[in-house]
Amino acid sequence: MDHQPKAKIDPPAEKKMLRTSRFPGFYSLDVWERLDKLGEWFPLSTKEKWILKNETLTAEKADVMIENVIGVFGLPLGVAVNFRINDKDYVIPMAVEETSIVAACSNLAKLIREHGTLSARASHAVMEGQVQLVNPHDPDQAIKDIAEAKDRLIALANKQDRTLVSLGGGAKDLTVHRIETESGTMLVVHLAVDVVDAMGANAVNTMVETLGPVLAEIAKAEVVCQIISNLCDKSLARAKVVLDPECLKSKTFSGMAVAERIVKAYHFADADPYRAATHNKGIMNGIDAVLIATGNDWRAVEAGVHAYAARSGRYRPLSKYRIEGGKLIGEIELPIAVGVVGGVSKLHTGVELLLRLMGLPSRRELSEVVATVGLVQNLAALRALVTEGIQEGHMTLHARNVAYSAGAIGDIAITVANQMIQEGRIRFDRAREILKKMIAHKQGNPENDGQ
Ligand code: MEV
Repeated sequence: MDHQPKAKIDPPAEKKMLRTSRFPGFYSLDVWERLDKLGEWFPLSTKEKWILKNETLTAEKADVMIENVIGVFGLPLGVAVNFRINDKDYVIPMAVEETSIVAACSNLAKLIREHGTLSARASHAVMEGQVQLVNPHDPDQAIKDIAEAKDRLIALANKQDRTLVSLGGGAKDLTVHRIETESGTMLVVHLAVDVVDAMGANAVNTMVETLGPVLAEIAKAEVVCQIISNLCDKSLARAKVVLDPECLKSKTFSGMAVAERIVKAYHFADADPYRAATHNKGIMNGIDAVLIATGNDWRAVEAGVHAYAARSGRYRPLSKYRIEGGKLIGEIELPIAVGVVGGVSKLHTGVELLLRLMGLPSRRELSEVVATVGLVQNLAALRALVTEGIQEGHMTLHARNVAYSAGAIGDIAITVANQMIQEGRIRFDRAREILKKMIAHKQGNPENDGQ
């Protein structure tokens, strides 16, 4: 596995001055214009722009990633703009099919940079592997014997990944846990591994598979499973937003009333798992999109995050909100297992390019960005929910989708969509009517107008 830290690409001095992720009017540009604008943020050759637009992954590369490849599968790739986290600006890639996610995130990030702050902190990248030992001859004695062999076991684990150790990582701790199960007493050995900049699954799995038979011998037990745990609660990321509520005001509510309603929405989620699931889904809307665009195993993060949400014995929201000193404060804490080396980061052309666009973050920095996007996405959804509802925000793109399915393209689709929004009638048959009328008008055949 590749654990080599990547060199940071420092933009030229004059570019540093322009290093703001505020791109006014970005949404109104066409795809090539957006790529050109992005080129002002990070130097992109014409070929690289073309790759981002058309071919982030070729079938040939896909063929070495999984089995039975028949092609590659597309998803919209956007960038969230306006983010400033820990006083640093970010342009954040997001791959996702759902309307409004990228827009909601970017819009709220703009409000926050003008009326508040975003900060984040991730802990060390520690992943744990588990070795399951069943039928221990004498569980208490086995626990003592494993504890005595701890240093030797850690050294054996570290022999499996010298590169990781040379970078300051590697196995750091080993603990034994006794559990009572339907199959009787079991001992579960946890190996804590500092995985530096990798996601760590390969390194950890290799280590625990090496330790398994040795542990079985020491414990006079039988080994069954040896695998990483996706509940990586030693690899937590936290993010915080502090916001002047005034900027949240809507057509019908004052800013403070919106903030108070957001806190009430959080209390609802905290008391009710049915709502907590949807609250957390809103968080994962943002997180998964960044994970996919950066080539990360979003299933692993999803599994860990939901297990963490249920750690108290009840499924609860991952974020919390309060009003303090006249400010709305939102906080999120969740386990994030990402990697910026190994995995598909070299193989997938799009991922490699997008990580470069993000300034080649360390695992820690990417975890902080991921947690922050989750929090901002969540706050954007709550703000919409407690004011005009989420459907209104979906309307523009929904109307465009309807216009496209009715046969309109480019600027014509936008005109058709705008007219439907104005009329409050976003329907396929209405889109066809408007389109027909426009064509008739263009052909100088006004008798067909309107029908
Ligand atoms: C929709 O994808 C996400 C929301 O349902 C999240 C939420 O309800 O908080 C809007």
